[in-house]
Amino acid sequence: MYVLGIWDGHDSGAALLEGNKIIFASNEERFTGRKLEVSFPFNSINACIGYAGIRPCDIDTVAFSTFEPTKTLSRIFPAQKERYYQFRRRRIPKPAIEKMIRYSKYMMTSIGSAPFLQQINNVYMKRALSHIGIVAEEIIGIEHHKAHAATAAFPSGMKRALILTFDGLGDGLSSSTSILEGSEIKRVGSVGSNDSMGILYEQATTILGMRELEDEGKVMALSDYSFPFPFSENKLRDFIKVDGSSMKAKYGPVTQYRMLEKISWSTPREEFAYMVQQLLEVVISTFVENSIDENGINKLGFSGGIMSNVKANMKIAEIKNLDDMFVFPHMGDGGLALGAAMQANYEMNGVTSYRFNNVYLGSGFSDEEIERALREEKGISYQRSKDIAGEAADAICDYGYVLWFQGRAEFGPRALGNRSIVARPDSEEVKEKLNVQIKRREWYQPFAPTILEEDAEEILDDIKIRDRFMTMAYKVNREYSGRLGSVMHVDNTVRAQILGDENRPYRKLITEVKKRTGIGAVLNTSLNIHGMPIVNSPEGALEMMRKSRTRRLFIGNYSVEMVD
Ligand SMILES: [Fe+2]
Repeated sequence: MYVLGIWDGHDSGAALLEGNKIIFASNEERFTGRKLEVSFPFNSINACIGYAGIRPCDIDTVAFSTFEPTKTLSRIFPAQKERYYQFRRRRIPKPAIEKMIRYSKYMMTSIGSAPFLQQINNVYMKRALSHIGIVAEEIIGIEHHKAHAATAAFPSGMKRALILTFDGLGDGLSSSTSILEGSEIKRVGSVGSNDSMGILYEQATTILGMRELEDEGKVMALSDYSFPFPFSENKLRDFIKVDGSSMKAKYGPVTQYRMLEKISWSTPREEFAYMVQQLLEVVISTFVENSIDENGINKLGFSGGIMSNVKANMKIAEIKNLDDMFVFPHMGDGGLALGAAMQANYEMNGVTSYRFNNVYLGSGFSDEEIERALREEKGISYQRSKDIAGEAADAICDYGYVLWFQGRAEFGPRALGNRSIVARPDSEEVKEKLNVQIKRREWYQPFAPTILEEDAEEILDDIKIRDRFMTMAYKVNREYSGRLGSVMHVDNTVRAQILGDENRPYRKLITEVKKRTGIGAVLNTSLNIHGMPIVNSPEGALEMMRKSRTRRLFIGNYSVEMVD
């Protein structure tokens, strides 16, 4: 039984399940080249079908997510969705009625979904799918937080867990609490979208002159440049209050935006960022702690956009009563295609668990396909190598960094060793070079490391949760703080990927680097140029090599060098 999941909003994409196997999952941006694409995911669906080697008519069930009024309107009038995308990404000038657009968005999105809306959405979904020959027997709409919760529960490997979603908003809610018990998942609580911690963070991001739904990580990074102060002195401390396992905002979203603007006017940027980040950490960790106590369950699964905040996740991991936690690595709306498919697979076929030890679920390429792309590229020399890891490690030591393209693409926002730029972890100079030539990050944004599992204890302090997917920050052991110059943040933390056996070629590379540097870690940043999605294909990798004037690329079994 094939179940296809579709998400056609912010960071659209598709995912294909067969029984309890995740066959393929990808986001549309990888095919269209537009970061956080919003258009209908035709390319991703075709990639799912192509990878599985099936025909569109073989798909039994299609699941999609979210049918609140704004989402419904965007399906009826896709041009509006495109306009909002251009506006949000600052591709068009700021409209004169920018505030009005923003305020009406807050008001519209607070209205939840209704059954008749689902019917309307079904009609539009069927019509879109018929363009690519999919006439599934079942087309199922999955409520926004059910789809997020499915990703927090079913791949977690846990049999009994508290499942929490923390989000901006979706289908009238900003958060949900469910209990996973054996083969059942049952919702026990929720928070409305007018009391959303995610919306507050999003508003603060906009007020700081950054892009909402995209630059929240920058706010988090900037916050560490403020001098710290106690929560009792935080001017935003009562903007969101937690009481037991409920959350209440002091103001409605429109007034809240005005109040945040007022406070930010007289506050240095980094201090304002600190207030917002501190509020988030306090609100979320208190909510989680109370939920653990109320439900008597200390294993937790998380999803939703807020869970991309690695520092809040670190605070959650520190909760004394928490025994284990799983954060779904594609926690934002880009993960909804897989979530909708998993929830539908649960409802239709009773499937409640998936083997999920890696995220290499996207496009892959054979040696022939890679060699074809290499043959057509000018200005390079290439050869098959018997020791890709050793050669790449040498190049990392010679040039500072290399482009590393192996296996199937990662599903989600992080490059985890298959579409990565890999560099020495101990060189400030390399960090500068990467920033100037490729990444153009803000000065306060740190890079992240991949650390070999066996070295993690030595490099990091107090590892309670071993996170494979770069969803959590860790404090660096004092002895190592001088040796991780290119990957450590100003507060001595790293957003680490702790690598086990899930990616053998990448593990081999880091092991080779360790032989040369003495450190079981590398700098790992995504294989993309500033503002572009992560590279998907060999052609994309070669284009990136050309544009960034990078000397070395290691792609499949091929070692590639730029010819002067
Ligand atoms: Fe969401």
